[in-house]
Amino acid sequence: MSTNRTIPEPWTGAQWEAITSSGGNLLVSAAAGSGKTAVLVERVIHRLLESQNPVDLDGFLVVTFTEAAAAEMRQRIGRALEEALTKRPGDLHLKKQQSLLNKASISTLHSFCLNLIRKYFYLLGLDPSVKVAGNEETALLKEEVLDELLETKYSGEDPGFFSLVETFGGRGDEGLRKQVLDLYEFTRSQPWPEEWLKEALQSFQLPDEVSLEGLSWYPEFCRAISLELERAVWALSQARQEAALPGGPAPYLENLTDELAGVRELSAQLERDDWEEVRSKGLDCGTFQSLPRIKTGTVDAELQEKVKRERDQAKKIIQG
Ligand SMILES: Nc1ncnc2c1ncn2[C@@H]1O[C@H](COP(=O)(O)OP(=O)(O)OP(=O)(O)O)[C@@H](O)[C@H]1O
Ligand SMILES: [Mg+2]
Repeated sequence: MSTNRTIPEPWTGAQWEAITSSGGNLLVSAAAGSGKTAVLVERVIHRLLESQNPVDLDGFLVVTFTEAAAAEMRQRIGRALEEALTKRPGDLHLKKQQSLLNKASISTLHSFCLNLIRKYFYLLGLDPSVKVAGNEETALLKEEVLDELLETKYSGEDPGFFSLVETFGGRGDEGLRKQVLDLYEFTRSQPWPEEWLKEALQSFQLPDEVSLEGLSWYPEFCRAISLELERAVWALSQARQEAALPGGPAPYLENLTDELAGVRELSAQLERDDWEEVRSKGLDCGTFQSLPRIKTGTVDAELQEKVKRERDQAKKIIQG
């Protein structure tokens, strides 16, 4: 893309490049509110107004994730067409685009796919009256499938399944159910869910005597713990600052200071790769002693509650 061409107002160079680039795939990734939709609309308009082989609006497929975004796109394209018409009144091509706006393929991904299925149901062997299941409906279906699956597994003799139940089961298999459903949701966001699962499985197939540090997912695991610890440090620092405010629950300060030091120490140990130490301390429930009693009315009750809430957040991170 040549950079010495003048860039029309109000676009930035990068935006203009995204608007005009052609002949290939384009991925635009930018911050919230930075003008992605505006660029996409302008890109469509640009194509519509091209002097050489201008296209018609019904030749576009514009898909979004939400109904609101689709409606916004349609509206903005409509507005941009109106503006273009004030500059080129009587332009027949533009007028035609206006009339095409309502039936243009600007929709959510779901509704586009549903239309496709309805149109070609006979090729897919589906009932033409298929519809998109709502969240409640899919949640019920998932539970049903999970019930059936667990029932089958329980009546079998797969030792792997029983050790899975033992590890994640929880009360009434709640923990296991959650793990299965979470894993399902997560893998569905992968481009190839089955492959992802197979790869994940491989990373657990370890040679004997391998240390935790030698595992491929160890750095990721440490990063995740590190982030959690940072959250705990942050919550405790907030709590301590607020406890020291006028009217704050000052009697908690001693606990909070100790706890903050404890969590910081855990964090430092993790930095030094001392996972065993982190684990034994992290699970040590003695870290969070019970807070001293405060007589009602002697401190600001709201601040006291807030400090407690923040401390509970940290406690939950450390003790689970
Ligand atoms: N270069 C620019 N100069 C001035 N205003 C701009 C520029 N680019 C976009 N805008 C304006 O910024 C506002 C936000 O743009 P837009 O809605 O397109 O952002 P977005 O990236 O799609 O936001 P979201 O992440 O919320 O979807 C709009 O009013 C748009 O007209
Ligand atoms: Mg947008």
